[in-house]
Amino acid sequence: MPKKYFIETFGCQMNDLDSEKIAGNLLHNGMAPADGPEQADIIVLNTCSVRDKAVQKVYTRLGELKQLASRRKDLVVAVVGCMAQLEGEKILKRAPYVNVLAGPQKGAVMSDLIEQGRREHPAIGLRSDEIPESLETQYILRQNPWRASVTISEGCNRNCSFCIVPITRGQERTRKSTDILREIKDLASKGYIEIFLLGQTVNSYMDRVEQVSFAGLLRRIAAIQGIKRIRFTSPHPNDFTDELLEAMVVCPQICNQIHLPVQSGSTRILRAMRRGYSLESYLKIISKIQSASRSIAISTDIIVGFPSETEEDFQDTLSLLDEVQYDSVFSFKYSPRPYTAAFNLLDDVSDEEKKGRLEIVQKRQKMIQIRKNSTYLGLRLEVLVEDKARSRVSLAGRTSDNKIVNFDGPEKLIGQIIQVEIAGFSPNSLKGIWIDSSV
Ligand code: 5AD
Repeated sequence: MPKKYFIETFGCQMNDLDSEKIAGNLLHNGMAPADGPEQADIIVLNTCSVRDKAVQKVYTRLGELKQLASRRKDLVVAVVGCMAQLEGEKILKRAPYVNVLAGPQKGAVMSDLIEQGRREHPAIGLRSDEIPESLETQYILRQNPWRASVTISEGCNRNCSFCIVPITRGQERTRKSTDILREIKDLASKGYIEIFLLGQTVNSYMDRVEQVSFAGLLRRIAAIQGIKRIRFTSPHPNDFTDELLEAMVVCPQICNQIHLPVQSGSTRILRAMRRGYSLESYLKIISKIQSASRSIAISTDIIVGFPSETEEDFQDTLSLLDEVQYDSVFSFKYSPRPYTAAFNLLDDVSDEEKKGRLEIVQKRQKMIQIRKNSTYLGLRLEVLVEDKARSRVSLAGRTSDNKIVNFDGPEKLIGQIIQVEIAGFSPNSLKGIWIDSSV
């Protein structure tokens, strides 16, 4: 009987892909997926550390697994990814039944670590600075048969004062454009139609040997037959070039959507965050995007309650929301992260104040989204059908500009691009009617 594994993924899209790499490695080495943690011989927690809450979530989960581990002496528990990298052997003190600790990017050696962890408790594979070649992954067990995430770079060379990522994922390494294109051509030949390019600052990508920029890479991917949609995350405003905008305008395969994290609307706070741009220069980029001949949806990330953020700074963030009219906003309470520059600053905005500001941001943005989504009524749009919907209607898909559309239709549409007419909306999604072209 093959040993069975169960992977629980926390955090970002990069972690989702890392879990697919881990699964690919375990499957290739003779293991098989389990239906749930109770049925598994190996439980892998692939973790996040971007905010303290993410770290505490893993400790809570480890607490829940304690009983299972004491009942099942042969169970292997692996804690991998960013939280494992950050917390290191502290995890073993709190959860001595953990057999494997591994940082991100250890997917390709996971089965070795697990075997080692089974024999000589514990096995430790924390990240020491890796070579670009380590980004090449031979086996990826993809969860979705039409959309594939592809790593183009890993790590980050920026040093935003609040951010743990350069510490957990290291300095930026980029893959060769030839390797990326080969992987995507292979995916296209297997029927994948949507490619999701991943990198911590995805648009800083540059293949210096082949002289391929991020925009150049996008154009080459758009030319691959069978690839209908290309998305990417997350770009940094300072690496947003005219060349990139031009590529987005002329290549219909590149989705007309961009996630451009701003973090704050106050130049003073942006400076303290070491974001490398002012409000003014960020707004110049936004205005270029908004005046492009192709309409492009814009979303962003906001942190409230960064050290020393005053009511006035916060009002600047609200004014920014009003000015840009984002299609969606992810907002977070500032969480001090060890080893970051901001960790040394006084975390002087109270939790209550942060909570209040977060609620105000979310309320304000909700009104913007209601107004924005109302303008979709009556439009006919292309939707890539992704899943069964959670609500009463049966299916859910996404438009090129990343709006979720719920509609009724047969399950066989999943994975296809279809036409819908928009007949309703809520702050976070649209409701559509499927236009069945076969009738
Ligand atoms: N506290 C709160 N939010 C954070 N983010 C990153 N680091 C922190 C932190 N220390 C947010 C940023 C980033 C998103 C992925 O998470 O908004 O863009």
